[in-house]
Amino acid sequence: PEGKNLQPRAPIVTVMGHVDHGKTSLLDYVRKTKVTEREAGGITQHIGASTLEYNGRKIVFLDTPGHEAFTSMRARGAQVTDIVILVVAADDGVMPQTVEALNHAKASGVPIVVAVNKIDKPEARPDRVRQQLSEHGLIPEEWGGDTIFVDISAKTGVGIDQLLEMVLLVADMHELKADPTVDPRGVIIEAKLDRGKGPVATVIVQEGTLRVGNIVVSESSWGKVRAMIDDRGRNLKEAGPSTAVEILGFNDVPSPGETFKVVGSEKEARTLIDKIKQEEKLAASKTERHMTLEELYG
Ligand code: GTP
Ligand code: NA
Ligand code: MG
Repeated sequence: PEGKNLQPRAPIVTVMGHVDHGKTSLLDYVRKTKVTEREAGGITQHIGASTLEYNGRKIVFLDTPGHEAFTSMRARGAQVTDIVILVVAADDGVMPQTVEALNHAKASGVPIVVAVNKIDKPEARPDRVRQQLSEHGLIPEEWGGDTIFVDISAKTGVGIDQLLEMVLLVADMHELKADPTVDPRGVIIEAKLDRGKGPVATVIVQEGTLRVGNIVVSESSWGKVRAMIDDRGRNLKEAGPSTAVEILGFNDVPSPGETFKVVGSEKEARTLIDKIKQEEKLAASKTERHMTLEELYG
């Protein structure tokens, strides 16, 4: 990160793992028990990211659709996740999507904390999970390696405090920092078209402080930020580093994984988008010509 006013920021965590190994259950448990600061009568929104406080410290969790953004961002070389929690069910053990997820995380250089889930089940074999993941290069600390494994149950809550502590420990080791005073930029986590509100984008602010009224430009869309709503349904006027908010005001629906920044004027935004679209067109026409030539000359 750049800037003169670097300050500690909350870790951004993505939960990954094989189908039905308990990703959503883990997030649900954490939300239910650790999201304490409920507004009276407030409605908890689903915005594709949840922020919880543990021992007075914030952790941002990208919800399951976050995978899509994670994958797409990796393809674009952008990076939003600081830590991956790899969920592996202790009865099932390592499965194809477990390996896929760990390869994604490894390729991005993102630290992995393994949550060995469903240890409440009689069939649970947590040591087999350790053995299997060791074969993929994730050697448990207790076996002399450097990967943290925590046995948990998303059903009973066993081990979840320890898991959150480990996440914060890994965050501390990486000294996550950002400057809230630089030009704001961040990543689109998910986006949709809402009938009443128009395009709605959940974003993570990575640097700087995003404010209502700012002109934002992503790779495919731009707009003036009309409102920002957090995961507790609160309207925010500003959002600093590691804040997940829903933005109203984009003119089109951007794609997960697109990055965005703030520019000085609508004119600047239009010029930038036009330039990006032109470049895309050029790239597309080059590909087309290339194919035609190949067809012509074999
Ligand atoms: P997908 O999103 O479909 O990939 O699944 P997921 O990884 O989000 O798993 P989900 O949380 O939907 O859990 C799958 C099933 O496992 C559900 O029936 C859960 O109730 C159950 N389950 C999840 N965690 C635990 C656990 O710790 N113990 C037990 N006994 N069951 C669990
Ligand atoms: Na499921
Ligand atoms: Mg799920």
